[in-house]
Amino acid sequence: MSESTSNSLDFRTALKQGIHLLREARVPSDTLAAELLLLHVTRRDRTWLYAHPEELLDPQALESYFSLLRRRAAGEPTQHLTGKQEFWGLEFEVTPDILIPRPETEHLIEVALDRLAVRELRSGRDPKLTGEGLTIVDVGTGSGCIAIALAKELPAAKIYATDISAEALAVAERNAIHLGYSNRITFLRSDLVSAFSSSSYQSPVTNHQSRFFDLLICNPPYIGRKESTTLPIEVRDHEPPSALYGGEEGYELYGQLIPQAALHLKPSGLLILELGHDSLAAVRPLVETPEWTNLLVTNDLAGIPRVLSAERTRA
Ligand SMILES: C[S@@+](CC[C@H](N)C(=O)[O-])C[C@H]1O[C@@H](n2cnc3c(N)ncnc32)[C@H](O)[C@@H]1O
Repeated sequence: MSESTSNSLDFRTALKQGIHLLREARVPSDTLAAELLLLHVTRRDRTWLYAHPEELLDPQALESYFSLLRRRAAGEPTQHLTGKQEFWGLEFEVTPDILIPRPETEHLIEVALDRLAVRELRSGRDPKLTGEGLTIVDVGTGSGCIAIALAKELPAAKIYATDISAEALAVAERNAIHLGYSNRITFLRSDLVSAFSSSSYQSPVTNHQSRFFDLLICNPPYIGRKESTTLPIEVRDHEPPSALYGGEEGYELYGQLIPQAALHLKPSGLLILELGHDSLAAVRPLVETPEWTNLLVTNDLAGIPRVLSAERTRA
């Protein structure tokens, strides 16, 4: 099938041609990508698309659609072309400055909420959490997806979000504003959580006591630079290296973050970390120390150990 040069194609035919073009280019999830691009250029939703397959696309929409299909076929991620990605039921703005939120990261939110509820139960309190009295930090916030999902679920929690990238923080702050959570989250440029201990850093929390957080949550960059050639082109050439690579091996940042977390978490505070597909063996020993207890490894839907969580001991 050749790409249409006609300026009158109906939705069904446009979708079929789009899927074919992406399939020829070996784009993963070709049907979903073609559908998302078609919906994006026509500003329609799926229900409308399947109710009106015979409707003609206007020539301008058709031209934009094929232009986006060609960019997707050349490797640009669909989310960079549509500018958005859903996470935890919320729509996030996505740009090349941030990691595109991934579905497996939602497991971090689930583990955080479960473990916070268990802590409440253990203390004889109501496990229905509002976040009252809780102080949380999301380290390496990127799009802001973790901090904002937690702000949604824990309406009374005080939330900080850090990133080393000023460009990423700008996207996260826009997402917090658009989604209505900007008054709930303090965004800080920081190398991991150094902003909370450095006296030279101008931050609103510099003078707080050091063991300050009830929850430190982080999806760090965890891919090894040595693996970069094995990455799909849409990841390697289009997502920010600072969001992908944790070092030559991949797990280096955990070695810096875990001791910092031990300094900053309150007794019984929770550490929740996303793991790369093969990070567990390197990361688990870092929390098998006297500072940590109640270790838990949670698998993702593919059965990969995806979340490592632990509780700060009282000492
Ligand atoms: C894997 S992305 C995660 C983004 C987002 N939290 C998510 O789950 O989609 C890692 C993020 O950590 C940030 N980052 C990398 N090194 C950092 C550091 N030393 N301190 C703070 N943030 C860092 C990157 O800029 C990036 O936004």
